Amino acid sequence: MKKYLIHTYGCQMNVHESEKIAGILESKGYTETSDEKEADVIMFNTCCIRETAESKIMGHIGETKRLKARKPSLIVGVCGCMSQQKEVAEKLKKRYPFLDVIIGTSNLSELGEMIDRANVGKHCYEIGDRFCVDENVPVFRTSGTNAWVNIIYGCNNFCTYCIVPYVRGRERSRSKDVILSEVKQLVAEGYKEITLLGQNVDSYGKDLDKPCTFAELLYAIAEIDGKFRLRFVSSHPKDMSDECIAAIAASPKICNNIHLPVQAGSNSVLARMNRKYTREQYLDLVDRIRAKIPDVGITSDIMVGFAGETEEDFLQTLDLVEKARFSSLFSFVYSRRKGTVGYSMENQIDRATKRDRITRLIACQNKITKEISDTYTGKVMEILVEDTNPKYAGDVYCGRTDCGRLVNFKYTENVVGSFADVKIKEHRSATLWGDVVKLK
Ligand code: SAH
Ligand code: SF4
Ligand code: F3S
Repeated sequence: MKKYLIHTYGCQMNVHESEKIAGILESKGYTETSDEKEADVIMFNTCCIRETAESKIMGHIGETKRLKARKPSLIVGVCGCMSQQKEVAEKLKKRYPFLDVIIGTSNLSELGEMIDRANVGKHCYEIGDRFCVDENVPVFRTSGTNAWVNIIYGCNNFCTYCIVPYVRGRERSRSKDVILSEVKQLVAEGYKEITLLGQNVDSYGKDLDKPCTFAELLYAIAEIDGKFRLRFVSSHPKDMSDECIAAIAASPKICNNIHLPVQAGSNSVLARMNRKYTREQYLDLVDRIRAKIPDVGITSDIMVGFAGETEEDFLQTLDLVEKARFSSLFSFVYSRRKGTVGYSMENQIDRATKRDRITRLIACQNKITKEISDTYTGKVMEILVEDTNPKYAGDVYCGRTDCGRLVNFKYTENVVGSFADVKIKEHRSATLWGDVVKLK
């Protein structure tokens, strides 16, 4: 029996795409292994959002050279966002001539044929440029209680710092009927959580022949019978509609958890980033969400050190973080990406200033996270048990609340996949700890 191993980098989109790579390989009779030495195919599903990601992946790919030397029949392939950039694909080819397959995000569905060709000794280096919606790729799900479901591919926004529109193409929505039947099937198979994926879920349906809004899609999915949770990532603040907020508020199945990346708190930085909203509009949106969904958990992404960001701009970001009170925050140091408008902007910020700002940003958010955690102590919250917590031995399970907070608890039986009411007793950094009061 031939075996495969997939190294996945980047966002949830890639995590799900690796399930498609696994689906293609499983349909060819391969089975999964976690041991590199045992693998007959190793795929790198890559990310290029920041330079640190790219250089780390380059290093990892290089390390497979010795595996290839030991086992010449091993097929090593690179796919994903990094290799979709033609100049990076060229670099990979030159630097690592031992690679058997280099393929982009746009032509991933051809992976099966490329593996066949590689198996008879042919190198396959092909990066497509026609991005489409392919409904024929099999999916081999690996994500436990949660199932990922793409609703829209690509991005039209061209934020000036971001490489994604160049490596994922323009927005393409899947049809509402196809999404509904996929979710019905997943719920029938026993998945307890469905997470809808898109770079900008609020754009869903605008490009369809029979247009459908994201809110309409949410309502339709929430009507499917069975107990399951519905989540989605990511929302764009410029596009999040009041109908969408109303849908979340109205349906108990839709989690009260919104990932709403703000990126910066200064209007001049937001304008240079091409985000198309102001800090005032963002904070107003947060207020409107909280008015309709009082227990909502709002999370966000913020980048420090974008070109031209002054100390004053950064203080505006800290001020926005204080005001928005995110339940958690993903913070990043701006990384210049070749091919984006931001790459050639003036007044790039030095590394030390970026370091200083990210440290202050993280400290600011940590204080808020702790304050919010304090308010949960003593409360009973429903969680979906997702897994054992790998940080602890055996009997520590973890799950998330409806608003997205991670809760650890001890239990003697395997309760993965169950819903449970948990009484929160304490918190350590961002993680809550509790005791089960009722299994459901
Ligand atoms: N489509 C999603 C985000 C995708 S990228 C959205 O619009 O919300 C995830 C996060 O990576 C972004 O929100 C941003 O904060 C960060 N990011 C994107 N490009 C970056 C860059 N060049 N340098 C540093 N962080 C970046
Ligand atoms: Fe990138 Fe902006 Fe598109 Fe998100 S919305 S993927 S940050 S260009
Ligand atoms: Fe995701 Fe990285 Fe691509 S964040 S869309 S895998 S560039």
